[in-house]
Amino acid sequence: MSEGQNTPSLRDVYRPYFSIGAAVNPRSLVSHADLLRTHFNSVTAENEMKFEVIHPEEDVYRFDHADALVQFAKDNGMRVRGHTLVWHNQTPDWVFVDDAGQPASADKVRRRMRAHMETVLGRYQNDVYCWDVVNEAISDHADAYLRPSRWMTALGDGYIAEAFRCAHEIAPSALLFYNDYNETKPDKRDKIYRLVAGLLDEGVPIHGIGMQGHWMMTEPSIEEIRDAIEKYASLGVQIHVTELDISVHEYVHEPDKSSAAARVFDERLEREQADRYEQLLQLFREYSRVIRNVTWWGIADDETWRDNFPVKNRKDWPLMFNEQHQPKEAFWRAVNFAK
Ligand code: GLA
Repeated sequence: MSEGQNTPSLRDVYRPYFSIGAAVNPRSLVSHADLLRTHFNSVTAENEMKFEVIHPEEDVYRFDHADALVQFAKDNGMRVRGHTLVWHNQTPDWVFVDDAGQPASADKVRRRMRAHMETVLGRYQNDVYCWDVVNEAISDHADAYLRPSRWMTALGDGYIAEAFRCAHEIAPSALLFYNDYNETKPDKRDKIYRLVAGLLDEGVPIHGIGMQGHWMMTEPSIEEIRDAIEKYASLGVQIHVTELDISVHEYVHEPDKSSAAARVFDERLEREQADRYEQLLQLFREYSRVIRNVTWWGIADDETWRDNFPVKNRKDWPLMFNEQHQPKEAFWRAVNFAK
């Protein structure tokens, strides 16, 4: 079946459950505008609201791309998820050094965090309804809790609570999220739970957990995903699935990357991926009381970061629309469920 008048809108079908999002960039706002307008009611900037892009130098902010995204969302009745404020990645060096090139003092880093949030959250106060305030702060290693980062070096473990408090002061009506990957692995899941539970205990304003959802065909299992949802939901916070994509490849770790086999996205693989998406979306609908948004990290298979991660130049097909922007089998399963 191909895209046509009878293709239902994903976002309309899911309106009773949760909003449907996509990560976008300045190119895809043009090249994928039709799909966005038809099927999505939420957008996230793939890079354009990240620190290094929007605030590359202390006195320089670049809002052009983020503004265009916000305008596109307004014009098309979509909401904007803000991504992201405090992260170990894609944050410029200047944030952490002083004029002499030495590590900046805690006070200086703190003032810079606040200035960044005042300017960015302030500008989008009425346009961005939620923010991934802190991204990926938990360690993947079993013997460590928090990931070492320059934010933590400068401000200590309390940098996470500080970031949320600061964001809330500046944008009191925004929903504030902690966002991470490997969020279903029991060890990391329990650390994310511990972090958010601790913040809530201290009265820190945090309203949601973002489960990135960069998953594979068989991993994590539906049971593991369910367990994570249950555990996070028990904290009384919302859940957003913030960066969903289902790679059709096995995950390969260094140094096996070179031996990673390329695949062909044939009918059998399309069906298997549709089975996977069908189970996932059924699970998400079951938890729609707490899962309030599901965002794909991209729109159609012609443009996906998975083509270069974890293996460079290995084609992947992780999304709901194919390289020609037509709905895949996964799409039809997502919209044709027994209500
Ligand atoms: C992480 C980040 C996103 C993005 C993806 C990969 O999950 O949160 O901003 O960089 O990696 O594209």
